[in-house]
Formats: sequence, C-alpha cells, structure tokens
Amino acid sequence: MSYHVLLVCGGNGSEHEISLISASYVEEKLKSIPEFKLTYAVLDQGQFKTREGETLIFDDKGNMLQGESVTHVDVVIPCLHGKPGETGDIQSFFNLHQIPSIGCQAQSSRVCFNKVLTKLCLTAFDIPNTPFVILGNFDEENLNKAFKFFEKEQDVYVKAASQGSSIGCYHVQDLSELKDSIAEAFAYSDSVIIEKTIPHRELEVAAFEIDGKIQISTPGEIIMPSDVFYTYDEKYSKSSGTVTTVEPKGLDPQVIEQIRSYAYKAFVNLKMQDLCRIDFFLSDKGEVILNEANTFPGMTPISMFPKLVEHMGYDMAEFFKQAVMRAIKRGPVL
Ligand SMILES: Nc1ncnc2c1ncn2[C@@H]1O[C@H](COP(=O)(O)OP(=O)(O)O)[C@@H](O)[C@H]1O
Ligand SMILES: [Mg+2]
Repeated sequence: MSYHVLLVCGGNGSEHEISLISASYVEEKLKSIPEFKLTYAVLDQGQFKTREGETLIFDDKGNMLQGESVTHVDVVIPCLHGKPGETGDIQSFFNLHQIPSIGCQAQSSRVCFNKVLTKLCLTAFDIPNTPFVILGNFDEENLNKAFKFFEKEQDVYVKAASQGSSIGCYHVQDLSELKDSIAEAFAYSDSVIIEKTIPHRELEVAAFEIDGKIQISTPGEIIMPSDVFYTYDEKYSKSSGTVTTVEPKGLDPQVIEQIRSYAYKAFVNLKMQDLCRIDFFLSDKGEVILNEANTFPGMTPISMFPKLVEHMGYDMAEFFKQAVMRAIKRGPVL
C-alpha cells in the first residue's frame, strides 16, 4: 500500500525562508519511507506551486490537480512556521478539501499562536506563566493599564499577540519608549500583551506522540550572549552568538520533572497533537514558567525539536511515519 503525502512549506509570513529549510529536512526523512509518495509544494501569495513552478489546486474530494493530472492526496504535512500554518488556517483549508493533516489542528494552533489566548488558557489550567496585562485596543484606557503595569514592574516585554520569530516583540526598560513600542506592536497585531521581564535561562522541550504515547523530552537549552534576547537574527542568522544544547548543565532533576509535567499538562489541555515544541523560562529565582508553545517547530539543522526527539532515542523518520499514518486514520476533521 502506498500513500500520497503533500509536504507544504513557505507561507505568507516572516518565516517563509526558514520553513523551506525545515521542509528539506522533513523531505529527506520522508524519502527514506518506501510507502510514501511525496509532492513538495511551496505556498506563496495564496498559491501552491511545485518546485518546477506548476500550480496545484485541490477539489473537494481530496484530489490535487496539476495541469491535466489528478492525484489523490492522503495527508498533508503543514511545514509552515507562523502564518498561515501555526494559525490553524491551513489545517481548516485542507480539512474542507477532505485532506487530513498531521500536527495540531486549527483550534489548538490558533490558541498557541495567539499569545493572549495562550496566556488565558495557561492561567485557567494553573500552568505558571509570566505576569501580564492584555491591551485589547490602542486607546487611552488600555494605555493607562500599560503605564500602571510599567510603574509596578519597571522592566517589561511588549509583544504583538499574533506573531512569531520575535517580530513585534520589544524589551522596554525606559518609560519614554513604552508608548512607541506599544504602537509598533499594534502595527503587527490587533491585540498586545505586556509581560514582566523575567531574568531566566531558556529551556525547551519536544512534546510528541509516538508508539501510542505522548512523550515529553528532557529540556534543551538556548544559551544567548548575555546582552541580547532571542531576536529573529539570534534565532536564524549565521553570525548569531546563540548556542543550543540538549544537555543543559546544572539543572536540578526536580526542575526537569516540573518542566516535563507542565509541558504534558499544556499538551493535553490545550489539545495539541502529534508534535509541538514547548518553551520555558527557568527564572533566576528557580521558578519554572511556560513561555509559549510552537505547533510546527523549526526543523532546520540547528533546530531543537528534532535534536530533542533524537536525544530521547527516537528516529525522526519513524516519528513522521507514525504521525502520517495516524492522520490518515483520523481522516479530515470537520
Ligand atoms: N517576559 C519575558 N522576560 C524575559 N525575556 C522575555 C520575556 N518574553 C520574551 N522574552 C525574550 O524574547 C524572546 C521572544 O519572545 P517570545 O514570547 O518567545 O516570542 P516569539 O513567539 O516571537 O518567539 C524569548 O525567547 C525571550 O528571549
Ligand atoms: Mg519564542
């Protein structure tokens, strides 16, 4: 039996290029699975195109039309970081075309991508997160709320609600920069979140399903030069001074277990599925704080998710194989 897998990458967002790098990694893993036939598609400006530039369109019966040829697609791998993959839109699109996809479905993706919704859910499920205020609109009432919060904390992060890759995210330590940062964050998103700055170590786990179980990896660490935060350039540029490790030094076993148990709690309560990278801060006071969940984490050669899965002794090709077979079994979710 063979299965047709559509690997979608690109997207409209700031992470288009990174997604192409992740997709070549996924493609390489899928090629080692003889039962899978693969179509690679780049989503750009709302159009799906093959590497050769041919347009792909989809009917409402799970078929992909390429010129004169019609191929039934069994499953989609939405290898998109940020919009419109981690927002849940692509999953809804393919479900409506009768094609199931691996990974978190629309609702969970939307909740995890939107920092306001994530915070509200984490708080509701008693999962520690940074103290925050939410600005629902750029108006006087909300600005007053922001100024009051700054007066108390004196050091904050201003973040656009629905963005990734540290875009629309500003570290504010000077009152005179607060209003402009809020205005800039609102240019990226229709809500803004302000958080207390937490001096921390940055720890991440891979949460994934394999062999019928949810597995939470041990944490890896992102170690940044001391004067910066994890910006877009620190994440992706060649000159980044950031290093990563899957064996962080000096972590108390209790902290590791706390991280894994909050990650598990978030995975099940926020209805994540198949894969997710869950990011934590370990504060300078020793508190474990969940920062965010990435529903289609990076899979570049320097990315944490595949490294953490492999560090747990699992094979990424086997992981994808099982996720694809589960998605086919589930079918489209409508
Ligand atoms: N409350 C905070 N305290 C300290 N550092 C923070 C805080 N919030 C964010 N950061 C820094 O900014 C980076 C980006 O913020 P994050 O919320 O992860 O946004 P993104 O979705 O863009 O990755 C984090 O990795 C961290 O280095
Ligand atoms: Mg982040």
